[in-house]
Amino acid sequence: MRIRKAQSLDKDRVLKFCKDTFEWGDYIGTVWDFWLTDTSGLLLVADNPNSRTLNYEPVAISHISVCQNDLLWIEGIRVDKHHRNKGIATHLLQYMVKYGIEKGLGESCALIAHSNINSRKLFEKQGFSQNCIYAYYNVKIKRKFEFANSSLVLKYACLGDVQLVCDYLNNSQIHLEKNNRYFNEWRFFKLENTFNSICNLIDKKKLVLMVDENSKICGLSIINIMDGKNTFYNEPLLQVCYLDCINNKILYDSVYLILGTLIDHNKHKYIQFFVDGSVDLHPLLNDDNNKSNYDIDFFERFIVYCKKLK
Ligand SMILES: CC(C)(COP(=O)(O)OP(=O)(O)OC[C@H]1O[C@@H](n2cnc3c(N)ncnc32)[C@H](O)[C@@H]1OP(=O)(O)O)[C@@H](O)C(=O)NCCC(=O)NCCS
Repeated sequence: MRIRKAQSLDKDRVLKFCKDTFEWGDYIGTVWDFWLTDTSGLLLVADNPNSRTLNYEPVAISHISVCQNDLLWIEGIRVDKHHRNKGIATHLLQYMVKYGIEKGLGESCALIAHSNINSRKLFEKQGFSQNCIYAYYNVKIKRKFEFANSSLVLKYACLGDVQLVCDYLNNSQIHLEKNNRYFNEWRFFKLENTFNSICNLIDKKKLVLMVDENSKICGLSIINIMDGKNTFYNEPLLQVCYLDCINNKILYDSVYLILGTLIDHNKHKYIQFFVDGSVDLHPLLNDDNNKSNYDIDFFERFIVYCKKLK
């Protein structure tokens, strides 16, 4: 087996074995062109000699990218069904970890579905350990939802809030215990509690606060508004990438506030939540009042696996 950089000629052969990877299909077809050309990443192909023609042919792929804070992100490992359990993914993973070490990176991470036992075993055997668990909800918006709760207000954070946000995160249990990661384009990044990174989120209108009648921050959320013209989604949607509240009651109220105030009903078809694994939104989204407004289209728990490279 040999491992090399992917080329555009590999696309048809690779997409043939990446068509029905999961029950719902696969996303490799939508990201292939981007992964092939993205200069911050590297799309790898593993070739094996074809037993009839003896020509080398792609039998597996994977993508790596170097992210902020010296992080090597690994994603999209796929091995052709006919070539599994021969150690190909193990080789690919070892190659990628070695790449990270040679580049002097500090940590390597990947996001794996809780139910994907094969992949979890693969990473655990190579020394990756569980960092945190996230729950992902893809929720179809059916009807406008009217939420009447006077005790909390949702507002976009402004520069005057930076110190309050830093103080809030300093005391936050989620931030301290749950490894303070937030979701962005199917990767989880560390939420740095620094003046600059908070300002950066505020600048991009990604940070919203839930405040009480005394203007005290009771919860905060990082959001992402997708316009439907991006690598992953064709439909405009709203993503809740981080949600951190002082207690569960506030968390539920915050979800209601997000549903009631941030969704643009003329545009958004879906809302996605990436919340701590301990948070269960099913009772809230499925209750009798909400069943006709929302439909949980997809739910899955994901584990962030990490390995120190230094
Ligand atoms: C998961 C996947 C990448 C493994 O590829 P592979 O080349 O078959 O894996 P390897 O032969 O290197 O096996 C590595 C380890 O994974 C685990 N594993 C792989 N397939 C397994 C299976 N069918 N049952 C149980 N464990 C399995 C084992 O721990 C194995 O080590 P061992 O054989 O020494 O016990 C492959 O099954 C695949 O492409 N699955 C669909 C896509 C996917 O889930 N990708 C990962 C998304 S993060």
